[in-house]
Amino acid sequence: MPLESLKKAAIVGSGSMGHGIAELLAMTGYQVIMIDINDELLRNAKEKIKWSLDKFVEKKRIRSEDADATLARISATTSYEEACRDIDLAIEAVPERIDLKKRVFSTLDANSPPNAILASNTSTLSITEMAGATKRADKVAGMHFFNPPIMMALVEVIKGDNTNQDTLNTLTELAKKLGKTPIIVKKDVRGFIVNRVLLAVCMEAFWAYKRGEATKEEIDASVKYTGGFPMGWFELADFSGLDIDYEVVEVLYSTYGERFKPPEGVIEPLIKEKKLGQKTGAGFYDWSKGRPRIPFNLLDTYDVERSWAVGVNEAAWLIQDEAATPQDIDTGMKLGTYWPSGPCEYGDRTGLDSILNKLNELHKRYGMELYKPCPLLEEYVSKGWTGKKAGRGFYQ
Ligand SMILES: NC(=O)c1ccc[n+]([C@@H]2O[C@H](COP(=O)([O-])OP(=O)(O)OC[C@H]3O[C@@H](n4cnc5c(N)ncnc54)[C@H](O)[C@@H]3O)[C@@H](O)[C@H]2O)c1
Repeated sequence: MPLESLKKAAIVGSGSMGHGIAELLAMTGYQVIMIDINDELLRNAKEKIKWSLDKFVEKKRIRSEDADATLARISATTSYEEACRDIDLAIEAVPERIDLKKRVFSTLDANSPPNAILASNTSTLSITEMAGATKRADKVAGMHFFNPPIMMALVEVIKGDNTNQDTLNTLTELAKKLGKTPIIVKKDVRGFIVNRVLLAVCMEAFWAYKRGEATKEEIDASVKYTGGFPMGWFELADFSGLDIDYEVVEVLYSTYGERFKPPEGVIEPLIKEKKLGQKTGAGFYDWSKGRPRIPFNLLDTYDVERSWAVGVNEAAWLIQDEAATPQDIDTGMKLGTYWPSGPCEYGDRTGLDSILNKLNELHKRYGMELYKPCPLLEEYVSKGWTGKKAGRGFYQ
């Protein structure tokens, strides 16, 4: 479907992500209909959109007429039949459970015009499985927005095993029209690009903490103040929600095995105590008085090169899997998580031989899959492709 034919979209699930995606599409001029399981949730979602639009007006980012017109483009219903009758696109944003998502895709398929594209905002689940619940697998893809969708510049567009190029092109163009930078996940791999690299790096920090090598404050201070990352890994885990992080880690562990094995007794006890991070006021840190204060004087107590080595290694795995290009990985990490550098450009700048040495040293010390160098990285170094100094690494 050419982008010009796309006029109306259904957003399925009007929670944290759904209402934001609805607002974004309506601001760009699309007719939007939100679907949820009861009217109160839909009323709340509309209230949140109105609050957000009022803020834009207050800050003089949009005119009040534009806010009114945006709201007028958004309707809501609990009926899939009513919502989907004349849509060109549906974006699903219901809770992260594959059984539920498959049910939703089957219902969307039964109620939408045959040429409508069906997309999922899943953080990590299989697009191919969702597509399998429909009779239009070629028109099913992932469209993964970051939170909050209205502000974050990145969208991962994910190809399922049977997604056709036309569908990918339309969603990529749509992301651009919404003012976002799309990156393409060329294969339906778990964690896609950003969550996969991020979780690998967090895993290294969680293991260092579990082994008693550094406290969470020491790791976070070094990551922020020496590494230049916007948040420490424990702070970030709290910010995203420990229940959500755990769900993603479980999927990565069951897919990739030992490389993503989480250390026992780090996250689960907090989840059991309902300390889920910022949203519950406590997680690794106390958030009751706002963002935790990470002491500056601890800035060199953890070796941030370990984070980089594991991040570069996971990027190499993505490239070896033919799931992403170095450019898209770097763009994803910079726009999706505000990393000061993409892992591929960092690796090329530092020297892929140094990264490989670091990984080998860590692998020898701990014997863990997490540190085992990706064969692609070993191959590059053996060919002399060590990065910028050699004129060839991940990049030419
Ligand atoms: N929250 C984030 O930071 C974030 C970021 C990126 C992607 N995601 C993904 O987005 C999706 C939604 O996450 P969220 O945080 O917005 O969840 P949420 O719990 O805030 O919202 C989910 C909404 O879906 C509704 N819902 C449940 N069953 C439904 C059904 N059968 N039909 C229609 N609506 C239904 C719920 O009532 C709720 O309003 C998940 O797949 C998640 O992994 C979340």
